[in-house]
Amino acid sequence: MKLLDIPFDDRRRRYLVFRPRDLPDRLRLASTSTTAAFEAMGSSRFYVSQDQRILAKVVPDKFSKRRHPLKWLLHDYLEKRWLMQSDARKEFLSLRILQRAGLRVPHCHGWGLSFNPANRAPSLLLMERLHDARTGGEVFDALDETGRRHLLDTFCREVVQLAHAGYVHRDLHFNNLLVDDQGRLTWLDAHVRPLPRRVSDHWPAIRDSLTAGKLRGEAYRALAERRIAELWAGEPTR
Ligand SMILES: Nc1ncnc2c1ncn2[C@@H]1O[C@H](COP(=O)(O)OP(=O)(O)O)[C@@H](O)[C@H]1O
Ligand SMILES: [Mg+2]
Repeated sequence: MKLLDIPFDDRRRRYLVFRPRDLPDRLRLASTSTTAAFEAMGSSRFYVSQDQRILAKVVPDKFSKRRHPLKWLLHDYLEKRWLMQSDARKEFLSLRILQRAGLRVPHCHGWGLSFNPANRAPSLLLMERLHDARTGGEVFDALDETGRRHLLDTFCREVVQLAHAGYVHRDLHFNNLLVDDQGRLTWLDAHVRPLPRRVSDHWPAIRDSLTAGKLRGEAYRALAERRIAELWAGEPTR
């Protein structure tokens, strides 16, 4: 554990950082046009270190302390801070599960928590910022049909690889993946849950994790379902 005083743009915030790894002595984080583009893709806030190597993903409080004081106290203060249910911690643990399952994830530099009630962004994930990759959605849109099938196939194989490790991803969205120029995937925004205890419930849980809205439409969702069903049943036909 390490106590870090991090200047964010101009304002300092103090975090207790768990599992710190390869962190520089001084970490100064700023918003840039790149982090603004990342924010436009999801709901988290992003900051980047001066050398552009470390990306901080920050999750603000859900409730306003002034407008919903009780909800804020129970959810944001007690549960997320004191009971350690912070988003960054959950994502850190999920990234570790993906990595152990053999999937590629960004290198993690630790996760942090602020106990200061005045800090409205108490959850902090510090990770490697990947440079030579684009989001799955962007790559998918630019590909022709053959390229899309190929990318979808890689995606399905990795979903099955994760299922063989006993987990299912809770937010299977192309924009939660980065794709490099060799077509390799890096998994981001990790939220995984264990497969249900009963074996007969495994396939429904995997199938239900695929949604048309997150996989560029019903046709691709259906293709993914068919391919994953084949791979899961151990019949790798092409
Ligand atoms: N480690 C990273 N390296 C490069 N880009 C990233 C990284 N993490 C996130 N991004 C970019 O930020 C976007 C949003 O990230 P994500 O973790 O999905 O945030 P949210 O929780 O807001 O959905 C991603 O689609 C990706 O473009
Ligand atoms: Mg996301």
